[in-house]
Amino acid sequence: APVMCVVGARPNFMKMAPILRALAAHQPPIPALLVHTGQHYDTDMSKKLFVDLGLPQPDINLEVGSGTHAQQTAEIMRRFEPALDEHKPSCVLVVGDVNSTIACALVASKKDIPVAHVEAGLRSYDRKMPEEINRVLTDQISDRLYTTERSAADNLAREGIDLSRVCFAGNVMIDSLEASKPHARAPQQTLAAHGLDAGLAAGRYGVVTLHRPSNVDTPESLTSLLGVLGQVAKDLPLIFAMHPRTRSNIDRFGLTGLIDPARIAVLPPQGYLEMLGLMAGATLVLTDSGGLQEETTALGVPCLTLRENTERPITVEQGTNTMVGIDPQAILAGVAEILAGRGKHGRVPEYWDGHTAERIAADLWTWLGS
Ligand code: UD1
Repeated sequence: APVMCVVGARPNFMKMAPILRALAAHQPPIPALLVHTGQHYDTDMSKKLFVDLGLPQPDINLEVGSGTHAQQTAEIMRRFEPALDEHKPSCVLVVGDVNSTIACALVASKKDIPVAHVEAGLRSYDRKMPEEINRVLTDQISDRLYTTERSAADNLAREGIDLSRVCFAGNVMIDSLEASKPHARAPQQTLAAHGLDAGLAAGRYGVVTLHRPSNVDTPESLTSLLGVLGQVAKDLPLIFAMHPRTRSNIDRFGLTGLIDPARIAVLPPQGYLEMLGLMAGATLVLTDSGGLQEETTALGVPCLTLRENTERPITVEQGTNTMVGIDPQAILAGVAEILAGRGKHGRVPEYWDGHTAERIAADLWTWLGS
């Protein structure tokens, strides 16, 4: 029986691509089916990443689209159940912490189908974050838990999860990063492709992404953050790859005027190879993303995270990440440090070595056989 591999939203795709390759390359090969829930559906948010990452066409498309959390989660569950009945997988493998992750894990566990969770045990200890709820619940009902950093096992133990179910495999996202590095697109090319001044990336520049509801869903927080970005941009031109949620809120709140196009280049959500090129060439990254905190650590590029907490503490302890929150003074101080040459260099954490998917495939084989 196949392993049913679930993706739904953008940050899932870079995690699943190397896993599918490793399952196929395992001796003997481990059969797999790819399910796309359709949580993200745009060309920018989904299709382009499939191409960039060499992901195969999904075997099953659930096409759920957007909605409230309840609607989206419920719809994924409703549509996933018949797929399980039809394909009778040996296990369901989910990655990350998006609504598709918990929805599919929950359906499988109630049907007594084993669940494997990749990127288990990360905790921000902030239950206002929808992803934190997804993480805690998915881990509780997972049968095999693959972790990216050693602190994750402590979090799981605290929640009563038997450590015999936990396997420290490393960071599978870094497998994608290592595989794609040679193909990263030059930042100038990315700007030019959107009719923007390529010269902006000729010298030092910063990269910005923002999409957390807590940062972009209220006019107050979004106005304040765009104001800070305007300040930063006076010293350092910025390239802002804008999530659809952020784009629509800027329009809705009438904040477009806060962005000076001469200093801040706004791009639509970027492909994986474009984003990799932009980050690799950047002087610093300003973000509220989980993935970018890890990718900048792997690339050795200083990252300022516009959040009060992180579920990925190793990026702060060993990597290049600094938590600056959303206080304007703290953000500006962080930027000033980096521009003065005092940014973090960091080191690449244990098992963030490009071989995580192979370790997962090997462990999965043993686990499924037993
Ligand atoms: C989701 C994940 C988040 C992840 C993020 C990465 C959850 C709870 N959140 O948040 O953890 O960091 O993806 O992007 O699962 N939209 C489009 N096109 C799309 C998809 C969405 O325009 O292809 C717009 C829609 O207006 C939608 C909004 O973006 O309502 C938010 O999408 P949604 O999937 O609800 O959450 P994200 O903010 O993308």
